[in-house]
Amino acid sequence: MSLAKVLKTNPRQLAMAVLARLDVRDWCDSVEVAGAGFLNFRIRDEILCEQVSDASRGKHLFFTRSPHPRTIIVDFSSPNVAKPMHVGHIRSTVLGDCLSRVLRLLGHQVVTDNHIGDWGTQFGKLLVGWKGHLDQMALDSDPIGEMERLYKLVNAASETDPAVMNAARQELVKLQASDSENLAIWREMIALSQRQFDTIYSRLGVRFDHALGESFYNPRLKATVLELVNSGLAQDSEGAKAVFFEDVPELKAHPALVQKSDGAANYTTTDLATLQYRMETWKPAEIIYVTDGRQQLHFKQFFAIFQRWHPEINVKLVHVWFGSILGEDGKPFKTRSGETVKLGELLDEAQDRALAVVNQKNAEFDDKSRREIARIVGIGAVKYADLLPNRQSDYVFNWDKMLALSGNTAPYLQYGYTRIRSILRKASDSDKPWTTSPDVIVALKVEEEISLAKHLLNFGLVLEMVGSEYRPNYLCNYLFELAGHFARFYEKCPVLKSELAERNSRLALCEVTGRVLKEGLGLLGIETSERM
Ligand code: ARG
Repeated sequence: MSLAKVLKTNPRQLAMAVLARLDVRDWCDSVEVAGAGFLNFRIRDEILCEQVSDASRGKHLFFTRSPHPRTIIVDFSSPNVAKPMHVGHIRSTVLGDCLSRVLRLLGHQVVTDNHIGDWGTQFGKLLVGWKGHLDQMALDSDPIGEMERLYKLVNAASETDPAVMNAARQELVKLQASDSENLAIWREMIALSQRQFDTIYSRLGVRFDHALGESFYNPRLKATVLELVNSGLAQDSEGAKAVFFEDVPELKAHPALVQKSDGAANYTTTDLATLQYRMETWKPAEIIYVTDGRQQLHFKQFFAIFQRWHPEINVKLVHVWFGSILGEDGKPFKTRSGETVKLGELLDEAQDRALAVVNQKNAEFDDKSRREIARIVGIGAVKYADLLPNRQSDYVFNWDKMLALSGNTAPYLQYGYTRIRSILRKASDSDKPWTTSPDVIVALKVEEEISLAKHLLNFGLVLEMVGSEYRPNYLCNYLFELAGHFARFYEKCPVLKSELAERNSRLALCEVTGRVLKEGLGLLGIETSERM
């Protein structure tokens, strides 16, 4: 119907024309034109059986790799040095990681780059703090906490005391002029921050191919501004250099600075230089930037400038933005004392809360296993709660909801997976052991078996949609529905107690469902356990 709109023709007629040239006899019993211009396909049951059977023999898992792989850069997480990673960074990290995994599985060449904020005016204040007020013991035990304290201290003092403000400016100028003492302190601040970021990334199971921070592009900034000025793209504006967008209605009222009046480059200049470097280095077909929605204007401006600067370059630039995490009161999520919630503490609490549930439900497991399950469930729950809502809407952070064993949650899906694994374990332990032998014939007869198989066939389609619309929530909902289809199948169809041929066919269906569930959760960055 949308094609008919483009072609300005009658949708029913167009549907008939498609039908006349369509040959899907191998897959479908019949295809009919229905209603206003729908095409109804009736997939043949043998095809469903064949697909499930092929999957059970390891020939595929209901998706295909792209015949046209592209190089795609995913720029995500990108926290700032000397500041703790907070809940806002978790969304970028979790979304970006999921998109990278999906695109990689679909066969694309994915390059992940953590664009760390390791340069900027905050270092002037940090240097004043470091030189005058550093508490070495505090730095040893919680480096980012101590650097944050120093920053806040000097920032507050600079608001009332112009001498402090001046000192910070001078330290910054010295740093920018490569003063060796300031450079050494700055490097140490980066190394200490990186160590703490790495702890979080390893807990989240996230890794990057590159972590080229903003400072990496410093040597390119002068030339970038110069080129923009020389080509007439940037103009003088009260001592600064700005790009005006007279011809872009949306941006008309929002010129972008590329050099401040003190001569310093800024976030936009750095992003322009970064993009140029990425084009030279990886020649990507697409670059995905994952940040919160407040940066929308920045990305619109910077994409528009780049297109004017390099009209010859053909690259798809996408800003994948997301909303805020809210507390129960509907205001930005904060701790009881009103501070921003630190990511490390949030993950600790998730694991503690999950452990309380595991201790209750799995008292028979040893201590080590219970802790491991709590880790997988706690971290999985936080990630899933982040990925499930439409990314552009704000969501309310709620521990009880995300850790519930029923409803659309990670623990529910992880539990569903363990149930399938337990069925397969029982099958292997029984006196009629089961293996995926090549002569198992998958025969799907009951309605619930067929619905489950059809849903499995959609896996690849959903992955493609996640990758092209940058929406992991499609995959969350797909997996939730998969678990539902499986539960209905298992309620209706005896597996272990049915006679041999049927038992084997149904075990194969269980096994591939388990594999899709595990693969799907894995793409969301969520681990599974064999028991819980
Ligand atoms: N460091 C920035 C922040 O915390 C995010 C950077 C995103 N990436 C980029 N290329 N601008 O807000």
